[in-house]
Formats: sequence, structure tokens, C-alpha cells
Amino acid sequence: MPIIEYQQQCYALKDGDNLLQGLLDAGAPVPHSCRSGVCQSCMVQVLKGSPEPKAQLGLTPQQKQLGMMLACQCHPQQDLSIDLPQRACRFPARKLAAEWLADDVLQLRLSSPIPFIPGQSIQLDVNGRQRRFSIASVPPKQSYIELHIEHRLSSDLCQQLFTLSDGAELLISHAQGQCVYDPTSPRQPLLLIGVHTGLAPLYGLAQHALQQGHQADIRLIHFYRGASCYLQQPLRTLAQQHPNLDVQLLPLDSMASRINDWLPTNSELHHSQAFLAGQAPLLEPLARQLFIAGVARKHLHLEGFGRS
Ligand code: FES
Repeated sequence: MPIIEYQQQCYALKDGDNLLQGLLDAGAPVPHSCRSGVCQSCMVQVLKGSPEPKAQLGLTPQQKQLGMMLACQCHPQQDLSIDLPQRACRFPARKLAAEWLADDVLQLRLSSPIPFIPGQSIQLDVNGRQRRFSIASVPPKQSYIELHIEHRLSSDLCQQLFTLSDGAELLISHAQGQCVYDPTSPRQPLLLIGVHTGLAPLYGLAQHALQQGHQADIRLIHFYRGASCYLQQPLRTLAQQHPNLDVQLLPLDSMASRINDWLPTNSELHHSQAFLAGQAPLLEPLARQLFIAGVARKHLHLEGFGRS
């Protein structure tokens, strides 16, 4: 029975328990989102004991050297002392602007003290509360970090961020995540499906792909909540400027019934890279459907958000 010391408290896990789930069940606050080793929001630093190699897949050599691992991918076999990555891994960013894009979507722009690739995500630290958000902006033209924050899931946070004065300092993590454009495959079709604020990383990725001269088709499908897509005009403008970009904006309640109308043929899917972003439970059936239709597992990328 491994004993886990986390933030000065000890938790007894059963043999074979998942570290993230075990800590959450015991009431310990651990940031998390996808629970599948993709978003890296559950990263912890091992202070005593050894990180599990399989919980370090996808981390950089520096992160491994610092003893980082993903709690959602770890089943401890030994006692461990862990904590959230040190605050030294946080960087001060300044609020530049905040604006409501829709009743329930706050656009937040921050100065960028870190390098990032459009579509990656950062952890935002506001008064000790941490949440992970994807980046919609594309440098060098947009040298700031732009986040789309769903009010329904983070109403307190949205209010705090909105009322915070411009220039106020926030702490952010380094950028991470694999919902990013691969410039080595410019002839591979891209299928981007976003649910509500899951549009943010896909908007960043699509703009980045076009900026890099992507040659194959890019199909972007957005399932929106509310009356209309909150980025309708910028997306329409982008599609007018780039004939290889096709944008479909559909209400979320039509997702199950209409998705097949807008998917490429199976032979095209077979060659496509697919990126899905939004609330994790809504993406999983869609990912299964795409896999069965022919998208290779290695070409299927999920950016799942949770209610952390
Ligand atoms: S990587 Fe662990 S919650 Fe996403």
C-alpha cells in the first residue's frame, strides 16, 4: 500500500491505484483535465522516490531530469513524496485586455514571457487557483497569448480576470501540449473539430498551418453553444482568404446527427491528421468514430478539457 506525501499531507493508496484518481478521491486538489496523458495539466514533481517511466512519456529531457511526471499516468508501486511543479516553473505575465466574445466566452490577452506554439496550452495561476487553457494566438503578428475562457465552467475566474486591471500580473506555466501544426507534412489533409471553446487551439493551429503555407485541405468544424459561433466573422474572413480552408459552424445539439454530413470520405480520413478539442466526454465518441472510419491512431489528437 504506497503512501503518497503531497503538499504536507499523507495519502494511502491501494496497490494498483491510479495516482491522480487516488488523490482526488481522498479530496486532494490536483489540477487535471484530459486524464489521458495529453494535456499535462496533472504534472507533479517527485521529491522523494522515483518517477514511473511510463508517466514521463512525452515530457522533455529537462522535465524528466527535474523528476516531473503525469499523475494520471502513474500507478505507484512505492512510497512517494510529490508536489506541484515548483513556482519557479511559473512566469509572470501581464493582463493586456479582456473582452466578452459571447455571453459565456471571455477572451483574455496576456503578454507572453514564454515561447509557445499556437494550439499549446498554459496553466494560469490566479490567487492560488490553477486552470489550463489553450492558446489561440499566432506569433509573430500576435505576440501575445490569447485564451478563450468558458464562463459556464469558470464563472468566478472569468469575473476575476475581467475585473483585474490591465497590466496586472498573473503567473503562467510554460506552454505544452501536442495540439500543434506539424510543418513537415504540408500535403496531409487536416480535420479540426472543436466543441465550444475547444475552438481556441484549433483556431491557433489553423492560422499557424496557413501561415506556414499548408497545401492540403483544412476542414474546420465548430460545434457552438448558444446562438452562433463566437468567432464567426474571423473564421469566415480566414476562409475567404484561403481557398484550402473549409469552415463549418454547427450548433452543438446537432453534433450527433450531423457530423457524418461534414466528415471527409473514408479514403481522405485515412490520410488525414485529426485534432479534436473541447470537453473530453464529448470528444471520446467522436474520436472512436474517426478511428473506425480510418484515421490512424497516431494521427488522432485529442485536447480534452475537464472541470478541474
Ligand atoms: S495529462 Fe494528466 S490530466 Fe491530462
